[in-house]
Amino acid sequence: MRILVTGGAGFIGANFIIYWLKNHPDDEIVNFDKLTYAGNLENLATVDKNPKYRFIQGDICAVNEVTSAMQGVDTVVHFAAESHVDRSILEAAPFVMTNVVGTQVLLDAALKAKVKRFHHVSTDEVFGALSLKTKSKFNEATPYDPRSPYSASKAGSDHLVRAYYHTFGLPITITNCSNNYGPYQFPEKLIPLAITNILEGKKVPIYGDGKYVRDWLYVDDHCEAIERVLQNGKVGETYCVGGVTEDINNLDIIKLILKIMNKDESSIEYVTDRPGHDRRYAVDWSKINRELGWKPKNDFNTWLTQTVHWYQENENWWKRVKSGAYKTYYEKQYKNAV
Ligand code: NAD
Ligand code: DAU
Repeated sequence: MRILVTGGAGFIGANFIIYWLKNHPDDEIVNFDKLTYAGNLENLATVDKNPKYRFIQGDICAVNEVTSAMQGVDTVVHFAAESHVDRSILEAAPFVMTNVVGTQVLLDAALKAKVKRFHHVSTDEVFGALSLKTKSKFNEATPYDPRSPYSASKAGSDHLVRAYYHTFGLPITITNCSNNYGPYQFPEKLIPLAITNILEGKKVPIYGDGKYVRDWLYVDDHCEAIERVLQNGKVGETYCVGGVTEDINNLDIIKLILKIMNKDESSIEYVTDRPGHDRRYAVDWSKINRELGWKPKNDFNTWLTQTVHWYQENENWWKRVKSGAYKTYYEKQYKNAV
């Protein structure tokens, strides 16, 4: 099998490539990535000498680049995206360009190349927000109700992927998953931002009252879910993927991280809330569990502790990421706090 992975230099894409080459050593991977601020080839240092792995720098919006990368490919796993909600609030245009237009360019090229599978990696954020007062969860039948430019652009991409299945018969599958965490996550997202700020002796910014709830999925569990869908998922189907079974809010997560790191709670700092902040996400992953036998391998505490240790042991990686352009972003995003 030759898999074209888009966005493979980012957080989940890199973890997926490492996971796939370890578990499927005979398959070939072509990593197609523009190397935006979020793309980092250091994430792939453990596989870049593997003869089954090849990197192509390119933009999914560029028809010629995508057409040439698609040659000889039988499976596409599409991660490439602008992925950070706060950045979509600062500037929405790159989100529409990459997430919507880029996905459409990729779909056209995949159709022409007659790929056997186009797997689209999407998010639970397309379903909108749940209330803290209910125990309800998102599932595959939940109507779309995106509320940020990021989630609206991902919803647009999901609709296009399904349209290419219904209109042209492109063999697609989609996963809508919850918040990932683990090694190589860009420290603009809550968990790596908190761990690395604590390691640097800085404050941890908590938006609003901190009582926002996300469903947390360890990145390797996510990679395994995609593997199951590629191997046994039904063409045309969507699978929701989530992690935790009980609600845990942002404040409690930060307290847990501080406890794992033997620190007190004085580094917590409440900052201005995110506009349009979705209150709660929770994912019902019973379909992928029932049909494909997938479930998370460990509980949240175990994976979170392992994640904290990874950042403690890989200071060089995150210190390089946090230097340069990251500083400008951080000052702009947290200007009322720092
Ligand atoms: P990321 O921001 O860490 O990485 C995105 C990657 O895409 C980067 O390597 C970047 O260089 C590349 N990229 C961006 N624009 C591109 C373009 N125009 N052409 C080619 N490459 C481009 O993102 P992530 O957290 O790894 O997320 C991967 C996918 O999973 C995204 O589609 C995201 O919407 C989805 N997702 C992420 C999460 C999460 O918690 N991180 C949860 C649900 C879904
Ligand atoms: O639900 C899946 C989505 O999860 C993915 O589709 C996105 O790509 C991914 O970025 C993530 O979106 P969130 O907005 O939920 O993730 P983030 O890490 O930015 O924020 C998690 C929660 O923490 C959210 O309620 C906002 C809050 N937060 C975040 C940051 C960065 C803070 O309180 N302080 C912060 O500094």
